[in-house]
Amino acid sequence: METDVISVRNPIIADLEDIIHLNRISLPENYAVAYFIELIKTWNESSAVALVNDKVVGYTIVRIEKSGITPWRSRSKSKAHVISIAVSPDQRRHGIGNKMMEFVIDNIGEINGIKKITLEVRITNQAAIEMYKKLDFNINKILTRYYSDGEDAYLMELLF
Ligand SMILES: CC(C)(COP(=O)(O)OP(=O)(O)OC[C@H]1O[C@@H](n2cnc3c(N)ncnc32)[C@H](O)[C@@H]1OP(=O)(O)O)[C@@H](O)C(=O)NCCC(=O)NCCS
Repeated sequence: METDVISVRNPIIADLEDIIHLNRISLPENYAVAYFIELIKTWNESSAVALVNDKVVGYTIVRIEKSGITPWRSRSKSKAHVISIAVSPDQRRHGIGNKMMEFVIDNIGEINGIKKITLEVRITNQAAIEMYKKLDFNINKILTRYYSDGEDAYLMELLF
C-alpha cells in the first residue's frame, strides 16, 4: 500500500466547497458562503488547508485583526485570530490539525507587528484544547456563555 502524502498550503477560492463541507460536518458554528469567500480572499496568506493525496481534508482560517487604533497613534495588525479550524473526521489524530497550526504560526510569525494569536474554544472540546496546549497556547480567561447554546469558551493565546 502506498503512503499517504500530506501537504499544507494557503487556501484558494477553488477550495471553498471543501472548506464549507468540512465546517458543516465538524462544527456547530457555521457561516454564510459569502463570509467564507470574503475570509478566503482576504486572509489566504494567514490561513491554511491540508491535503491528503491532493484532497482537501482540513482548513484553518485565521484573520489578522487591528486593535488600539486611534487617530494619533495607529497600531495596525496587532493580533491574529483563529476563526475556524476543522479536520475531516476520518483523518483526525494523524497530526493534520497540528501541521496546519504550525504552518499558520510560522507564516504569522513572519508578519510584522503581530504580537499574538488568539482563539476561542468550547471548554468541553478536549481534543482541540490539547492540540492548542501542545502548540504552547495558554488559557487566558473563560468567556462565559460565549456560544449561542450557552456553553462557555476558553480564550486561548499564543504570544510571540
Ligand atoms: C481539533 C481538531 C482540528 C484536531 O485535529 P487533528 O488533526 O485530529 O489533530 P492532531 O492529530 O494534529 O492532534 C494534535 C494533538 O492534539 C491532541 N488531540 C487531538 N485529538 C485528540 C483527541 N480526540 N483527544 C485528546 N487529544 C487529542 C493530541 O495531543 C494530539 O497529539 P498526539 O496525537 O500526538 O497525542 C479535530 O479534532 C477537529 O476537526 N475537531 C472538530 C472541529 C473542532 O473542534 N475545531 C476546533 C474548534 S476551536
